[in-house]
Amino acid sequence: MNIKTTNETLENIDTQAVITFIINKDFDHIWVKHKKVLENANFKAESEDGILLAENGYIYIGCANLQSDELRLAAAKAIKILKQTSYKSVKIGSYIEKTAVESIGALIEGFVLGSYEFTKYKSKTEPLKLEEIIISTESYNQNTTSLEALNSINNSAQIIANAVNYTKEIVNTAPYDYTPVKMAEDALKLTSIEGVTCKVFDEKFLEEEKMGAFLAVNRASIHPPRLIHLTYMPKEKSKKRVVFVGKGLTYDSGGLSLKPSDYMISMKADKSGGAAVMAILKGAAELNLPFEIHAIIGATENMIGGNAYKPDDVLTAKNGKTIEVRNTDAEGRLVLADCLVYAQELKPDILIDMATLTGACVVALGEYTTGIMGHNDKLKHELYRAAIQSGELVNALSFNRYLKKLLKSAVADISNVSSSRYGGAITAALFLDNFIEEEYKDKWLHLDIAGPAYIEKDWGYNQSGASGAGVRMNLYWLMLQNQEKDK
Ligand code: BES
Ligand code: ZN
Ligand code: ZN
Repeated sequence: MNIKTTNETLENIDTQAVITFIINKDFDHIWVKHKKVLENANFKAESEDGILLAENGYIYIGCANLQSDELRLAAAKAIKILKQTSYKSVKIGSYIEKTAVESIGALIEGFVLGSYEFTKYKSKTEPLKLEEIIISTESYNQNTTSLEALNSINNSAQIIANAVNYTKEIVNTAPYDYTPVKMAEDALKLTSIEGVTCKVFDEKFLEEEKMGAFLAVNRASIHPPRLIHLTYMPKEKSKKRVVFVGKGLTYDSGGLSLKPSDYMISMKADKSGGAAVMAILKGAAELNLPFEIHAIIGATENMIGGNAYKPDDVLTAKNGKTIEVRNTDAEGRLVLADCLVYAQELKPDILIDMATLTGACVVALGEYTTGIMGHNDKLKHELYRAAIQSGELVNALSFNRYLKKLLKSAVADISNVSSSRYGGAITAALFLDNFIEEEYKDKWLHLDIAGPAYIEKDWGYNQSGASGAGVRMNLYWLMLQNQEKDK
């Protein structure tokens, strides 16, 4: 699908169909050409409402206001309607607020995010016929924006939304097809992007590096583990080194602390953090951001078998700390512990880990929201701001000394689960905190994406299944960092 911007007025663009948003039920705006018909159809133009007037090739979409996320929703709704049609080309005016030029980017993101479909395993598919979306600079508010600025926004919005869709495709792919080895193959493919290199390590390296926690999780899997290390070096001198670490559990059965069948469904999505950090690096490289970026993925399955690691086992992580295993289903933190130690050797300025880490985070915040944890309030706030702009939902969960004490072990340095059933998202993060060196405490953020990464129903502009949680917020955050750098 080709999305382009032009200086032509809407009227002078020749396409098969037209998309018109009805903003805040303003049926009298000059762009609304079929007020009577819409009234007769009882079309209320509520947010996320849409209607196709097939006779005239008009698609009307309700849109409560001109805020970015409302525009994303409206654009995705238009695509949903267009999926049912055979139009090849469509045009739309630009919905730019006087103060917020970036809303055009949101519109484009909505189109690209809304057009994703997971069809890999369907024998019959009906692909979207739409080939072209033309956005006129003619604006709802009659203010003008330079075509150059629009082209640049168009480019970055498409990169960001495509990075999200890239994550969805990885996460949705079945565990039989998507093994740690496959994940490494996909990472290697990213080296076709300028500035991107990739190192892939196998179990021999993990042994040499004494990553006993990561290795234990892998032990009962027939698929060997992979530690994937992607790097993006910008052309210009980098101002900051940002290291992302992702949980890449290509399947989480729970191990010997086996998950009940209903809870095992969708655990192919336990690789969402890993897929997200791959996409962030891809997006950042395509955006030519002036930061050195690393993406480290701990890829393995968590399975059962005679050689499985067990509750009661004591593991030694890469930093020498010993861990009493009390639940083999708390495996993500074990893999991340070793990966975080590895990541700190790169001397990051910022260290962000992303993981579908706990069901407790979903209980705490609901399934649509990512939990942000860490010691640095300013950093948390920065990411919070970026997330809101990107349309992702986030909320901060705070550490405290009492929860920290719940990870004490009688036999090892630390237990892999808390002794209390409450506050599980935070105690999981506090477990990780044990593997963060003092000098990196304030540089580290943990994002628990267990809720939004994979939801088995459509929500907003997200399709049922993987959503690519965390990708947009981090790319927005990196772009904001870049703007601040320019100031
Ligand atoms: N991968 C799961 C967490 C998860 C749950 C992700 C629901 C997505 C949706 C993780 O490995 C896990 O099983 N965590 C346990 C931890 C517990 C044993 C302390 C959990 O949340 O129950
Ligand atoms: Zn688990
Ligand atoms: Zn898991």
